[in-house]
Amino acid sequence: MLTMPKNLPQPQLKPNTEVVLQKRYLRKDLSGKQVETPRDLFWRVASCIAAEEAKYNQSTCKGDVLARDFYDLMTSWKFLPNSPTLMNAGTDLGQLSACFVLPVGDSIEEIFDAVKYAAMIHKSGGGTGFSFSRLRPKDSRVGSTGGVASGPVSFLRIFNTATEQVKQGGTRRGANMGILRVDHPDILEFIRAKEKEGEFNNFNLSVGLTEVFMRAVENDEHYDLVAPNSGEVINRLRAREIFELLVKKAWQSGDPGIVFLDRINRDNPTPDQGEIESTNPCGEQPLLPYEACNLGSINLSCFYVPGHNDAADPARDGIDWAELKRVVHLSVRFLDNVIDASRFPLDSITETVRKNRKIGLGVMGFADLLYQLEMAYDSQQGLELGERIMAFIQEEGHKASAQLAVERGAFPAYATSVYAKKKLGPYRNATVTTIAPTGTLSIIAGCSSGVEPLFALCFTRNILDGERLVEVNPHFEAALADAGLFSHELMDAVVAKGSIQEMDYLPAKLRKVFVTAMDIAPVWHLRMQAAFQRHTDNAVSKTVNLTNSATEQDIFDIYWLAYQEGCKGVTVYRDGCKSIQVLATGEGQ
Ligand code: CDP
Repeated sequence: MLTMPKNLPQPQLKPNTEVVLQKRYLRKDLSGKQVETPRDLFWRVASCIAAEEAKYNQSTCKGDVLARDFYDLMTSWKFLPNSPTLMNAGTDLGQLSACFVLPVGDSIEEIFDAVKYAAMIHKSGGGTGFSFSRLRPKDSRVGSTGGVASGPVSFLRIFNTATEQVKQGGTRRGANMGILRVDHPDILEFIRAKEKEGEFNNFNLSVGLTEVFMRAVENDEHYDLVAPNSGEVINRLRAREIFELLVKKAWQSGDPGIVFLDRINRDNPTPDQGEIESTNPCGEQPLLPYEACNLGSINLSCFYVPGHNDAADPARDGIDWAELKRVVHLSVRFLDNVIDASRFPLDSITETVRKNRKIGLGVMGFADLLYQLEMAYDSQQGLELGERIMAFIQEEGHKASAQLAVERGAFPAYATSVYAKKKLGPYRNATVTTIAPTGTLSIIAGCSSGVEPLFALCFTRNILDGERLVEVNPHFEAALADAGLFSHELMDAVVAKGSIQEMDYLPAKLRKVFVTAMDIAPVWHLRMQAAFQRHTDNAVSKTVNLTNSATEQDIFDIYWLAYQEGCKGVTVYRDGCKSIQVLATGEGQ
């Protein structure tokens, strides 16, 4: 590790940063005593990732200068890499990726290999996605014993229990994604798997929808259920009934979600290496079996220029585009170096990752930026801003990856990738952009998460071990103060309600701008997801939040719109449909 410069400034921590860093990120010795400060942590990460530069002769950057650039990049809260990079860079573990997909083959050996590999990944702070579609259906014959197979849902339980027992690096429990194709004979059991609250609690479940299925829904036709092991058509179901059942279950519990598998594979940059069957746990990163990806997110709220905002003058749009461009280029270099610095628990993962060198640069703090610019999330203007920002990041991100390809060579599988066939590139990375949920990163950076609207203007957040953090959005507080409206009585009222929409004594403009997730009509959530998806190589993590009174028809419409708008999947959550939720407004607490 490079020696820490003597004058390295201390990071200016946001209100909740210290708590989260202490709980999960700062290194501890065997007795549990904290052995690093936040400054040590960010220097450990910066210097470890910058040190990778040394192996590239053509590099235009010097390791020590770059380490300082990376340190400043992170401690200005403009960019943060995913949690495993913050936790493990420069440590003996050295596993830096958040996202993995593992294959589950149709034999006891392969199934238990996957359980074991998942445990190894969870231990290192990564999350795993699996497709269970290759497993033979329940009750089909097992050649070696003459018995009958247990089927995907039964094996899913083993993965769930194993996860329960392995705490990730002693800090967080592993998250999983389980996917089953809609044409698997056990699909009904899978759709109902989470009916009982608490079942499969370490899994997000998604049904993999195909184009054939969606056309059958549209035309109200039946479709085939096919046994993956024999290719035999086992049954035929009415597609619309299944789609409606999916909607009903999502209404009841939020699970399962849906992913559009054919669409994901249409965007597979390296189809010669096989089909993409699954995503990572939160759905934003489709990956090949044995592939991993490291993510990083740019905090958009840092790019607001106060006083530079004039609706009549497009050149004065309140955003520092030049700085955003610099940060995108530096972040792409950072994430590409992370691939080299990362040590994976399996050789087959190292091999696949090094072949394609996927990275996932995304954003957080988008809702904060909208507040700063006084733009409503649920407005045409808001949508256009989202689209413009992501198009810019995507374009500059690809340029940065192309520049790295000049310095370091294209990703090894480039020659057989779709980019080579379309005469695009060469690029250093098979994918560059992904929008992650930024669940913890956004707390560290003190901004809104991913591209989500704020859940509430003031709220309590349940973090680890039942501990709670109280948060008031700083932009809301500032806007109230500017308007001379700030008062403790008002804050109490907002804490209790979460939203200000019914407070008609507040100015209309304020109410229009300071919308929260539940104030926003579901269709706007979806449109925003689609706007970001149009300029994202991988996928967008987004939850379409619904009020408790939302109907099944509302969810049907959202699912259908997600399909029409080109999303890769969709997740809905109806307020109050589960007894424990991570985020909650003041009421009922
Ligand atoms: O903010 P942070 O970097 O901790 O994570 P995130 O953006 O909320 O989630 C990104 C990805 O990290 C997820 O899609 C999972 O692949 C993984 N993850 C996990 O494995 N376990 C968790 N408890 C949270 C996230």
